[in-house]
Amino acid sequence: MSNAFSDILVQRLVSARYVTVFTGAGVSAESGIATFRDLDGMWSRFKPEELANVNAFLSNPSLVQSWYQQRKRIVTEAEPNAGHRAIAAFERHFLERGHGFALVTQNVDNLHQRAGSKNVIELHGNLARNYCFDCNRDASEEEMHTKTDEDSVQCVECGGLIRPDVVWFGEQLPAQAIEGAVSAARRSSVCLSVGTSAVVYPAAQIPLLASEEGAYVAEINVAPSAIASMIDETVQGKAGDVLPALFDAYKEALSSSDESYTLN
Ligand code: OAD
Repeated sequence: MSNAFSDILVQRLVSARYVTVFTGAGVSAESGIATFRDLDGMWSRFKPEELANVNAFLSNPSLVQSWYQQRKRIVTEAEPNAGHRAIAAFERHFLERGHGFALVTQNVDNLHQRAGSKNVIELHGNLARNYCFDCNRDASEEEMHTKTDEDSVQCVECGGLIRPDVVWFGEQLPAQAIEGAVSAARRSSVCLSVGTSAVVYPAAQIPLLASEEGAYVAEINVAPSAIASMIDETVQGKAGDVLPALFDAYKEALSSSDESYTLN
């Protein structure tokens, strides 16, 4: 089977000094985690307004806590897939060559970290963490286990409601994360946008910003996303197939380029 990506993309990866990978739910689809907007996606079965905003939480904290605890159980039982592992391999390789690499993710499932990625910028938080809505104290896993069907978990210190450390609709993204992501996008010579519909802002700004600053931007998706016409290349395919093949093609091209015998 011939590769779905262009030689230009491979060459741009070889010459890149800084790469940003931007990911969405599609990268975890092959780990068995539902995406949001595909036909069988989470937002076809659950209503964001009932679960993913502050008002929903305040009116039914027990329901919202249960839903996020259930999602946490699902992602904890899932395993990272070949796509996650290829992104971690790209990072290791770039860092070993003395170049820069950032992974900016909208995912809250922790699978990138479990696949070995180190510099992960989490734009939408992480299901693994919970904190007190009133005093901001981090809640431990043991506290979360005190959840019963009816009752919500409350802070052992101040009695406030414990919430998941995820960004809800209408909330600001963590300032440090968005600043880090913008700075990575601006520095990039290549940006890969993987498994995202690219409709949720400000996150979807990241590949567009990289493009504006002159990066070569390619997306890897089973179908063209909302930004497909604004970027350089759409590689149509599953992240778990395309990313390992892209990593192999990059390594092969690198080994035949001048840099393979340049000390730096
Ligand atoms: P979406 O569900 O909107 O998009 C998932 C994308 O993955 C789609 O474009 C699919 O075509 C693609 N896809 C599915 N399977 C794939 C595969 N195996 N390989 C590659 N691509 C695949 O998910 P996101 O773009 O991540 O926000 O959604 C963005 C945000 O909307 C989420 O972070 C979440 C949600 O509301 C918050 O919770 C704040």
